[in-house]
Amino acid sequence: MADQNVYPPSPDFVKRACVQGMEGYRELYQQAESQPEQFWGALAERELSWSRQWSHVFEWNPPFVRWFVDGKINVSYNCLDRHLATHRKNKVAILWEGEPGDQRMISYQELHRLVCRFANVLKNRGLKTGDRAIIYMGMVPELPVAMLACARLGITFSVVFGGFSAEALKARIQDLEAQIVITCDGAWRRGKEVRLKQTVDEAVADCPTVREIIVHKRTGGDVPMQAGRDFWWSDLEAGTSESCPAEELDSEHPLYVLYTSGTTGKPKGIVHTTGGYLLGVHMTTKWVFDLRDEDTYWCTADIGWVTGHSYIVFGPLSNGATSVMYEGAPDYPQPDRFWRIIEKYRINIFYTSPTAIRAFIRQGDQWPNRHDMSSLRVLGSVGEPINPAAWEWYYKTIGRERCPIVDTWWQTETGAIMISPLPGAVPCKPGSASLPLPGILADVVDLQGNPVGTNREGFLIVRRPWPSMFRTLWKDPKRYEEQYWQRIEGVYMTGDAARRDEDGYFWVLGRVDDVMNVSGHRLSTMELESALVRHPAVAEAAVVGKPHEITGQAVAAFVTLKAGNWDHRDLAEDLRRWVAHEIGSFAKPEQIRFTDALPKTRSGKIMRRLLREIVTSNAVAGDVTTLEDLSVVTRLSAQHDDES
Ligand code: PRX
Repeated sequence: MADQNVYPPSPDFVKRACVQGMEGYRELYQQAESQPEQFWGALAERELSWSRQWSHVFEWNPPFVRWFVDGKINVSYNCLDRHLATHRKNKVAILWEGEPGDQRMISYQELHRLVCRFANVLKNRGLKTGDRAIIYMGMVPELPVAMLACARLGITFSVVFGGFSAEALKARIQDLEAQIVITCDGAWRRGKEVRLKQTVDEAVADCPTVREIIVHKRTGGDVPMQAGRDFWWSDLEAGTSESCPAEELDSEHPLYVLYTSGTTGKPKGIVHTTGGYLLGVHMTTKWVFDLRDEDTYWCTADIGWVTGHSYIVFGPLSNGATSVMYEGAPDYPQPDRFWRIIEKYRINIFYTSPTAIRAFIRQGDQWPNRHDMSSLRVLGSVGEPINPAAWEWYYKTIGRERCPIVDTWWQTETGAIMISPLPGAVPCKPGSASLPLPGILADVVDLQGNPVGTNREGFLIVRRPWPSMFRTLWKDPKRYEEQYWQRIEGVYMTGDAARRDEDGYFWVLGRVDDVMNVSGHRLSTMELESALVRHPAVAEAAVVGKPHEITGQAVAAFVTLKAGNWDHRDLAEDLRRWVAHEIGSFAKPEQIRFTDALPKTRSGKIMRRLLREIVTSNAVAGDVTTLEDLSVVTRLSAQHDDES
């Protein structure tokens, strides 16, 4: 069995590690569990700079929590200013490579200057603490600059992934009631320009709260600018002061809102606040990646997702690390782009997704084998379960059997890594995220909240609040309470299934709700179905995740049509374009199947479980656009009790 392979850290690694050996891990875990106030209070005091000390470490009024109550702090100050008085002032903060091969190395001093200037731009436009900004940009240094400038002033920002369509962007701008949108003319992706400003123009047509759009020039493409509304970043920045004091913000001030898919058609605005979030990402960056001052650290995520927020921007910069940022596609111009970057900048810590790893396996070992990657010390994985075969390949072919792999389990909601090996302490088992981090009281339980016992499947939950957890859903505290805290009374319901083995290791098995994970991106069944039924030809739609060799899951859609003479092949293509228009290209169904009827329970609920079985066991590969008769399944299923 694959889970019998165990990889303990080498004695050399343990000797230099930030947390040393299982005793080191157990001691930290035990302190955090038995004396959470002292544990987190001491870390907050030692690791972060506060402008006012808190009165209480935390206040827990289930399901609402406040951390470092009455404390005042600024995230941008902690990521920048405090390093300027140290040896880090000329250290590279952001080491950026553009897809065409251009490079920028921005020191902490320089980043501080850029952030102060842009914060002054925002101030000059009349923005202030409590206002909201939408950031819709490609992976350029101006994206973290915009985030840090907002954080400096207490403007709550929401980064929207550049792959989202105008419709999806519009829904987020409207929900956040943002006053400003910060964007780029375009972004480079596989040698082509993604026209971001054009998408913003389409989106804001229906967004009365947006007063201004600030555009950073990246690609130099032709961009229409509306006088009085649209401004070039560089024009506004010219002549602004390089000094801008960081606002002293309440520890619970909302730092950002990040939209993620839930079980309804409407995305949820996950709200992260200031002091607790920063402490969570700061400590986990140190513990999990065993970060050293001399390291060059690279997380390959897009900043449009939570991984980029926590582990490209806030965690690494708060630690004074050199954080590498790459603009483009992993296989452009050739499949070894990532390995070239590792070799060129002598990357020490590399954090990527199982989807990327599986794509690399398929491209062949000749690509990584061509490069000297001996600088690597720690490898990481995030976003979805990593299958043991992919883990072993990553360990051997990329890490050359020298580097521990941290398989990090966490969520947009948790803000920071929750379950992961500490690389100098916890032996790795391929496929298991292993043990919870200090302060994380995770368990696997049944619906009554009782632990299920060794090797039994159950719901993954967390019993106690932790500093970086989300505080609520934007404008929807009721949904926050119901969805996360009431399903199993009094504990945080993650939405994942898991089991714990005889060593207490967690094996995360995937979602238990109608949320899919495609390439580590969360997609909601309901969101996809609502998008499909908005198409004029579609009567009903049911969407399920289909196992996929590379992306983990792929979207499979079953569709019934309104009366008419439809050409199924054309229509399937049209529906794919439609989903790209409504949500984004990354959400396009891989498979669309037309049917006369969908299998339903007697009470009319679509039996997605049956459809899942059909797409999983059916040998027909790829696109099936012929009409299927699912009425057989419907009749069969009607004989069972109601189930969804
Ligand atoms: O199902 C789990 C899966 O991704 C979900 C969270 O998705 P999102 O909020 O988009 O955040 C992704 C980046 C943190 C989880 O509920 N997931 C994430 N990491 C892992 C994982 N499943 C198994 N193993 C992981 N390491």
